[in-house]
Amino acid sequence: MAEFTEISPNASATAKVTNWFENRFPTAFAGYRTHMSEYYAPKNFNFWYFFGVLSMLVLVIQIVTGIFLVMHYKPDAAKAFESVEYIMRDVPWGWLVRYMHSTGASAFFIVVYLHMYRGLIYGSYRKPRELVWIFGCAIFLTLMAEAFMGYLLPWGQMSYWGAQVIVNLFSAVPFIGPDLALLIRGDYVVSDATLNRFFSFHVIAVPLVLLGLVAAHIFALHDVGSNNPDGVEIKGPNAPKDADGHPLDGIPFHPFYTVHDIFGVSVFLMVFSAVIFFAPEGGGYFLEYNNFIPADPLKTPLHIAPVWYFTPYYSMLRAITTEMMYVLIACVVAAGAFAVIKSRLPSVFKAGAAVATVVAVALMLAIDPKFWGVVVMGGAVMILFPLPWLDQSPVKSIRYRPSWHMWVYGLFVINFAVLGYLGTQPPSPIGERVSQVGTLFYFGFFLLMPWWSRLGEFKPVPDRITVPAH
Ligand code: HEM
Repeated sequence: MAEFTEISPNASATAKVTNWFENRFPTAFAGYRTHMSEYYAPKNFNFWYFFGVLSMLVLVIQIVTGIFLVMHYKPDAAKAFESVEYIMRDVPWGWLVRYMHSTGASAFFIVVYLHMYRGLIYGSYRKPRELVWIFGCAIFLTLMAEAFMGYLLPWGQMSYWGAQVIVNLFSAVPFIGPDLALLIRGDYVVSDATLNRFFSFHVIAVPLVLLGLVAAHIFALHDVGSNNPDGVEIKGPNAPKDADGHPLDGIPFHPFYTVHDIFGVSVFLMVFSAVIFFAPEGGGYFLEYNNFIPADPLKTPLHIAPVWYFTPYYSMLRAITTEMMYVLIACVVAAGAFAVIKSRLPSVFKAGAAVATVVAVALMLAIDPKFWGVVVMGGAVMILFPLPWLDQSPVKSIRYRPSWHMWVYGLFVINFAVLGYLGTQPPSPIGERVSQVGTLFYFGFFLLMPWWSRLGEFKPVPDRITVPAH
C-alpha cells in the first residue's frame, strides 16, 4: 500500500476530505494538476481559442440528448418516422431534446470548422503538434460518419434518398464496389436492415471511437503544449521560465482559462438557444423540409442534397464529369512532367514518377468518372492529414507571413463557402463549371502549398509573446 499523507487535525473539513480522497485516488489529483491547475497555456489566447472547448461542449450535448432520444426512438423502418413525431409532439420536452440534437449536429460542424480554421491560420499543425492535428482529422472523418448515419434515423425522404445516393457511390469502386455497397446496406436497397446497422453504429460504435480520439487529441496537445496566435513556443528549451521552471509567457489553465471559457460557453449557449427556439430547422439547412415527409422508396424527391456541412464535398463529387477528367489528366501529366524534367530527384525516382504517371492516366481513362468523383470527394478530406508536411513556410502564424498569404486563406474560405452553396442547389451548367474551378482551387491550395507557402517576405517572429494578458 502506498504511503498516506498525514494532515493536521486542525485542518479545515474541506482539506481533510480532500486529503482523504487524494490518499485513495492520487491519479485523479495528479491528472487535475497536469491538465488544469499546472497546465501552462500561452497568455495570448484569443477568440479563436474558444472553439476547442465548444467542440467538447457540443459533444457532451449530443451524447446527453442522444441518450434521451434513444428512450423513445424506434429503430424500425415501419416505426422510426412516427417515433420521432411522437418525441416531437407527445414526449414532455421531447421537441427540445430532439431540436437540441438535430441543431446540435450543425452546431458541431460550425464549431469544428472554426476550430480547424484557427489551426490553419496559426499553423497549429506544425511541429511538434503534427499528431494533435492528425487526431483532429481522424475526429473530423469520424464525425462525418456519425452525422451521416444519424441523418438516416428519422426515416424521412431525405434520410432515405440521401443514404441511397451516398451508399450507391461505393458501388463505383472497381471489383469490390457492388459487394461493398451490399455490405453497408445489408440489403439491395436502403431498408430496415440498413436502419438497424446505422442505428447501432450511430449510438454506440462511432461515439466510442469519437470519445477515444478526443482523449488522444487532448493528451497529445497537453504533452507538447498549446500553440498561440503568435506561433511562439512558450515551453521550448530557449523560452523564458521563472525560478520554478514555469513559462513566463504562460498562465495556468485553471483558473485563468476556465473562467475565460465560461464566458465563451455562455455566449455560445445564448446563440444556440436562440437558434433552437426561433429557427431550429435553420431555414431548411439544418433539417431539410423534405425530411418531414416519411421515407417513400417508390418516390424519389426532385432534388436530393445532403445537409450543409457535407455540401462542399458533394459539389466536388458532382464536379467530376467526363470533361473534367481530361482536365485532371492534364494536371497529372503536368505533375509527372515536372517530376521528371524539373525536379532534382535521383534518376530512379524520376523513372518511378514517369511510370506512375502513365499508370495513373491509364486508370483515369479506364475507370468511370463516377468512381473518380468518389476519390476526389474522399481526397478532399484525406488531404488534410499531410498538412503539417505540405506547409513549408518558415513561420507558423499568419501574423508573420507575407500579407498576400492572408488573401490566399480568404479566397480558400470563400471558395469553400461557394462550393458549399452550390452543393445545396440543383445541378446547372454554370454551377457545374464553378464547382469544377472551385475543386481545382481547393486541391491546388493544398498540393501547391510546398511551393507557395515559402514565397514572399516573412516578418520577423518575436522571441516572446506580444499581447499582454487580458
Ligand atoms: C470533437 C471535435 C474536437 C474537439 C472536442 C477538440 C478539442 C480541442 C481542444 C479542447 C483543444 C485545446 C483548446 C483549443 O486550442 O481550442 C484543441 C486543440 C487543437 N485541435 Fe481540436 N478538437 C476537435 C476537433 C479537431 C479537428 C477536427 C481538428 C483539425 C483537423 C483539430 C485540431 C486541433 C489543433 C491543431 C489544436 C491545437 C491548437 C493550438 O494549440 O493552437 N481539432 N482541440
